[in-house]
Amino acid sequence: MSATALAKRTTTTTLSTRKGGDPIVCLTAYSAPIAKLLDPHVDVLLVGDSLGMVLYGFDSTLPVTLDMMIAHGAAVVRGSTHACVIVDLPFASYQESPQQAFRNAARVLAETGCAAVKLEGGVEMAETVAYLVARGVPVMGHVGLTPQSVNTLGGFRARGRNAEESESILADAKAITAAGAFALVVEGVMEPLAEAITAAVTVPTISIGASVACDGQVLVTDDLLGLFADFTPKFVRRYAELGPMVTHAAATYAEDVRHRRFPGPEHVFRVKRKTPPSEMAP
Ligand code: KIV
Repeated sequence: MSATALAKRTTTTTLSTRKGGDPIVCLTAYSAPIAKLLDPHVDVLLVGDSLGMVLYGFDSTLPVTLDMMIAHGAAVVRGSTHACVIVDLPFASYQESPQQAFRNAARVLAETGCAAVKLEGGVEMAETVAYLVARGVPVMGHVGLTPQSVNTLGGFRARGRNAEESESILADAKAITAAGAFALVVEGVMEPLAEAITAAVTVPTISIGASVACDGQVLVTDDLLGLFADFTPKFVRRYAELGPMVTHAAATYAEDVRHRRFPGPEHVFRVKRKTPPSEMAP
């Protein structure tokens, strides 16, 4: 990326200053063409490990690898010029030790050109967040419903349903932000807890299913576009229904091919000859 391109991008520092101000707009992106379409409208393009479920058809985000995140992260950086691009560290690429986290986060930054990484977890990840930030890796935290912990959380269900769970998630939010995270995704928590977290931390909170109390919002783009139809979480508003449009386009194309209506004359390469072939010298 050139220095000029870097200068135009929203930075993690700018995002930090947006606490309590205009809501931060964030969407997921996994490819260059989608990044290009979303880029003028958002502050953040998040290359989420949700791509494991949305693009690759896995049941959870656990099988996503660092190489997948790097390939998709680099594509999103290439497809955008304005938004701050943040790439998820996938499961098992950072939980072992701060050193493992640094090694892998450094690869993500160097090989994609993104601005920051996001990692899931609370109190137990605070040491790692501090280690990364001290070594030049901007970190976005992610607390509440943390999909990489689906097996220990007992499923994808909203969190903060009782006082004990709420206090523990609030402690997670405080620990991660005290460790130096520049922003915090708060996923799938009860509204009063989202309010309490947003009031307690000094960096912007970005909600996914955590109400309007947060400093910004993120959605999975395929959910918003109606492209991921396996299930629609309660917190998603669909702004388009592209799924049926894709089905209709594919069915119409298939009919056209089967009835030799496609390609038409306008799609065919023809040699333009000035001299009729019959008059050409042998
Ligand atoms: O993986 C992802 O897309 C995410 C967002 C939904 C916050 O983490």
